[in-house]
Amino acid sequence: MLILMEELKKKAALEAVKQIKDGMIVGLGTGTTAKYAILEIGRMVKEGLDIVGIATSKQSEEIAKEAGIKIADINDYEEIDLTIDGADQVNKNLNLIKGGGGALLREKIVASCSRKEVIIVDESKIVENFSFPLPVEVVKFGWKRTAEKLKKLGFEPSIRQGFITDNGNYILDCKYEKIEDEKEMEEKLNNLPGVVENGLFINLADEVIVGKKERTEILKKK
Ligand code: 5RP
Repeated sequence: MLILMEELKKKAALEAVKQIKDGMIVGLGTGTTAKYAILEIGRMVKEGLDIVGIATSKQSEEIAKEAGIKIADINDYEEIDLTIDGADQVNKNLNLIKGGGGALLREKIVASCSRKEVIIVDESKIVENFSFPLPVEVVKFGWKRTAEKLKKLGFEPSIRQGFITDNGNYILDCKYEKIEDEKEMEEKLNNLPGVVENGLFINLADEVIVGKKERTEILKKK
């Protein structure tokens, strides 16, 4: 089962990297699925592909450098041509929950600066309604007070034990019954003092590549 899941992630990743062309600035996602893409890009670089990568986490930066990919500072580029990233869940509107790996802030910054955001997932991540606990990045100062505000919005937050983000913050993983209006909720969460960013990615994905047993399916933004 686990082996199959890895195969599906890899299938999606290999399909996505076909979109990379010479000279592109490429956003490199975080997580086990994105890692397959980074490793394949590294292989393509060794065969002569000339691209510059923008990493969404320290972990991805390390993997990319190890694979031989040039990494640049996002501040040096106004726009990223193509970003390939994973997700924890994807719904029918191609909205996402991200942050299972704790890199949501950098991932959202990179996605928001990308001409095209391609999300790669195995088929188990496609859902009717979100259920994955929503990761919310909060500053350390007063995090318990921020958690209380999240409770008032209907969440049941718990601190991710022993985890500090690349930006020096905490992650609160927030359970919920149902997120009725995801766009409104994303805004409400980011309006709370102490919240740095949340894992709802609304209207950011242009394409979702789904690794399935029989084939690879490409879902496009309408
Ligand atoms: C990291 C993320 C990842 O993309 C998400 O958690 C999916 O990871 P994986 O591919 O390992 O299932 O958002 O912050």
